[in-house]
Amino acid sequence: MKNTPISKTIVDAQKAKSGIQSVGTASIREIKKLVDMIEAESGERFVRMEMGIPGLPASQYGVEAQIQALKDGVAAKYPDIQGVPELKQQMSLFIKNFVDLDIAPEGCIPTVGSMQGGFAAFLLLSRIHKDRDTCLFLDPGFPVHKMQHSVLNIKYEQFDIYNYRGEKLREKLESYLSQGHIHSLLYSNPNNPSWICFTDTELQIIGELAKKYDVVVMEDLAYFAMDFRKDYSQPGQPPYQPTVGKYTDNYILFISSSKSFSYAGERIGMMAISNKLYQREYPDLGRYYPSLGFGYTMIFGTMYPLSSGTSHSAQYGLLGILKAVNEGRYNFREEVIHYGEKAKAMKEIFLKNGFYLVYDKDEDKPLADGFYFTIAYPGMTGIELLDELVYYGISAISLAITGSDREEGLRACTSLVHVNQFGDLEQRLQQFHADHPVN
Ligand SMILES: Cc1ncc(COP(=O)(O)O)c(C=O)c1O
Repeated sequence: MKNTPISKTIVDAQKAKSGIQSVGTASIREIKKLVDMIEAESGERFVRMEMGIPGLPASQYGVEAQIQALKDGVAAKYPDIQGVPELKQQMSLFIKNFVDLDIAPEGCIPTVGSMQGGFAAFLLLSRIHKDRDTCLFLDPGFPVHKMQHSVLNIKYEQFDIYNYRGEKLREKLESYLSQGHIHSLLYSNPNNPSWICFTDTELQIIGELAKKYDVVVMEDLAYFAMDFRKDYSQPGQPPYQPTVGKYTDNYILFISSSKSFSYAGERIGMMAISNKLYQREYPDLGRYYPSLGFGYTMIFGTMYPLSSGTSHSAQYGLLGILKAVNEGRYNFREEVIHYGEKAKAMKEIFLKNGFYLVYDKDEDKPLADGFYFTIAYPGMTGIELLDELVYYGISAISLAITGSDREEGLRACTSLVHVNQFGDLEQRLQQFHADHPVN
C-alpha cells in the first residue's frame, strides 16, 4: 500500500462511518462533512476546494448600516414586500453605474439571496404560457437551480455550452427555442463552475434569439464584476459588466451580494426585472393569480407567499454597501481580486503536476482567473480523481453534478485555500503525480 499524505486507513474508516461509497459522486455538503471528519481524525489540514463560500470578511459598509438599522428598531416591523424604497433606488443606480442598463426602481426587488430570486422566477416563469413548460439551462451550472426545479416539479432541459462557443451557439440554441416549448433560459456569467464568461458575440446571440422566440433570459450575475481581466468597478465608467440586457428587453438579472460583497450570511440578493417585462401582461397568469402583470405578480403573487419579502435589517445592510459603491467610496473589486490571484497560482501548481484545465477558453482568449477553475488528470474520470485526491488531502467536487459533459473534470474553488497552503498543495500534487504516472 502506498504511503499517502492522509492515512488510507483513516480515510476509508471515515468514509465507511459516513456511509459514502464514492467521494466522487457525493454532494457538496456530504463531501464537506466527510472532510471535516477526516481532518478531525487525522489532525491534517486539507486543501479544501469543495465549497463555493466566501473566504473574506463581510463588507463593513454593510455590517455598520445593518447594526444601525437594528438599533433604530427595524426588527420589529415587517418590511415592504417589494423592498425598502431607498434600497430600490440604490439598486437601480447600481445597475446603471455598473451594468449601464436602465431599470426602474420598481423592478429592483431584494430577495433572500439570489437563491430565492431564482426560486421565485422559476415558479412564475413556469406559468406565463400555458403551452410552454420548460426552462433551458445553458450548462454547466449551479446544481441547486436544478434542485429547485425538481422541488417545484417543473421541467428543464440543458446542454453543455463547451462545444457551442461563439457563432456555434446560435444554431444550438435555436434548435431548442424553435420547438416552442421553452419559456425562459438561464445561465450564470461568470459561470459557476467553469468560470467561462460569455463574449459579447454570445450575449448578442442569446439576446436576439430571446427576442425572436419571446423567451425570458435569466442572467445570474452571482460573481458580479469578478471577471478580473477587466475592471468593471468604476461607477458610471466603462467598461461595464457585460449583459444580455444590451441585446434584449426581455430579461431578469440576479445579482448576489454573497461573493462580490462577502455578504453570504445575511442572505440578501437583488432581482432586477427589465422595464418591459415588469410591465408586461400575460393572459395565462390569470389561471393562478388575480393580476396578469408580470412585475406585480412577482411581488404580490410570489415573493409574498414565499417569505413576505426580505429581512428588514439585511436590506439596510445592502443599502449601506450600495451607497458606498455607487458613491465610489468602496471598491469591492479590490477586496475580491485576491481570489483571482490565488486561482492563477493554484492553476500553475496543478498544471506543473500533470493536470490540465478542462474549460480553458472564452472563444480564443484564455479564461479569466477567478473564484473557480476546472481541472482533470489524464486517464481518470472526475469521480475516480476525486476519490483518489482525498488520500492526498485535497477536496473538490466532480463536474458530473453540474450538467457538464466533461466527466473527467473537477471544479476547484479558490476561496477557502490559504496562500500558506500552496506549499502543501505543491507537495501533495507532486506525490500524486509520482504515484500516478501518465503514460
Ligand atoms: C451561480 C450561482 N447562482 C446563485 C447562487 C446563490 O447566491 P446567493 O448566496 O445570493 O443565494 C450561487 C451561490 O453560490 C451561485 O454560484
